[in-house]
Order: sequence, then C-alpha cells, then structure tokens
Amino acid sequence: MSGEISARDRVIVALDLSDVEAAEKAVWALGDSINFYKIGYELVMAGGLNLAEDLVQGGKKVFLDMKLHDIGNTVMHATRAAAKLGATFLTVHAFPQTMRAAVEGRGDSDLDILAVTVLTSWDDDDLKDAGYASTVPELVARRAAQAEAIGIDGLVCSPAEAKELRQRLGAKMMLVTPGIRPAGAEKGDQKRVMTPSDAIKAGVDYMVIGRPILAATDPKAAADAIVAEIENAKK
Ligand code: C5P
Repeated sequence: MSGEISARDRVIVALDLSDVEAAEKAVWALGDSINFYKIGYELVMAGGLNLAEDLVQGGKKVFLDMKLHDIGNTVMHATRAAAKLGATFLTVHAFPQTMRAAVEGRGDSDLDILAVTVLTSWDDDDLKDAGYASTVPELVARRAAQAEAIGIDGLVCSPAEAKELRQRLGAKMMLVTPGIRPAGAEKGDQKRVMTPSDAIKAGVDYMVIGRPILAATDPKAAADAIVAEIENAKK
C-alpha cells in the first residue's frame, strides 16, 4: 500500500483553526501543494463539516479526526455518515466494540478507519487512575493487535512508536503520525518529534503536520520543502 502513495499525498495538513474562513484561506494559500486536510473538534464545532464537504467536492482528501467512542450502533451510523460525506480517514478510539462498529459502518466504502491506541497525553499513572492494570506500551500493543484482527485500516501513533509497530504489524496497516518537524523547525509543545525523512524510514505512511506549514512565513514553500524531503527519503 505505502509504495503507491506519492510524497505529496503523504502530507496531511492539520487545520487546527476555530474559524472556517481562516481554514479556507489556508487551503487557498496552499493550492496544489497540499491534497489532504485534517479537520478536528475545534473546526467541526465552528462549521467545519461544511468545509469538509467543500474540500471533497474540490477534489481534496479529508481526514475527520473525530476520535469516535460510543455504543456500537451510534459509532456504526456516524461512520456511515462520514463515508457518505466522502471522508478518506476517520479516527476512532481503539476499543474493540467501537472498532468493530466503525468497520461495519465503513462497509465497502472508500473510507479508511484509523484507530487511536492510547492518547499520547496519557502516561502509566493516567491509565492506573482510569482503572487499567496495563502500562502504556502493553495497552498500545494489545490494542494494535486487536485493531489488526478487527480489520482496522491504520493506526495513529507517535513517530517514536512507528518503527516497532511497523515491525509488529507488517506492511498492511497504515501508520499515521503527528509530531513531525523538519530539521530546524520550532518544536512548539511537541516533545518527541521526528523529521519527515526519519518518519518515512521508520515506516510511517502519512504525516499530520500543522504549525510547521501553517505558521510558516510562506506556507506553500514550507509544504513543498517537506514534500521534497519525503521524496528524497524514499530514494
Ligand atoms: O502543529 P502540529 O504539527 O504540532 O500539529 C499536529 C497535529 O496532530 C495537531 O492536529 C494535533 O492535535 C495532532 N496530534 C498531536 N499529537 C498527538 C495526537 C494528535 O500533535 N499525540
């Protein structure tokens, strides 16, 4: 699967904006440099689903970062609606019942379901606090295996987890990672970051990138530079 994706299509720009107009401006400014956009809670609460539909109509790909988790029937119908909207990726939390419902809702549509194993903001103490007996690596491994068995299409993971997950899961599952920073870029609040070329070497298929592109003086040039770095990493 990963061999067929162009370097440009591997870059997903995170539209972490609370205003649709600002998001539209960002998309216009990036033009043909970016084909794939992530829309999360913040933008969805401000009318982002209409923007998602417009992007799909305009030939762009949309990643709906909704991190669904609810009773199976609700997750199944919400997933079906995301597929109907034309989204390419949808996230769910990696609970078995939730993942099974999302796979059912996706059916044979073009929507791919990505599972979030354990949020990277959680550590072992947070898991204990929430009643789990596992450590973070144990739960990530358990949920990755369950996601694969259930037929989930890919995992969202930190770049630091990618290499091990790629070895564990083989080539079939997509790995999608945030926390990407080109050499010399500001880290912002990201603590463990990886460059685009190292991420490709670690087996990452898609990178979710926000500030290194959107906050750049010339976002289009920043996007093109990242795409060029990915192209070179593949040689
Ligand atoms: O601006 P930046 O490149 O850090 O944005 C990364 C995107 O990935 C944001 O949308 C952020 O919410 C998301 N994300 C993350 N770390 C995670 C999970 C998601 O940065 N562990």
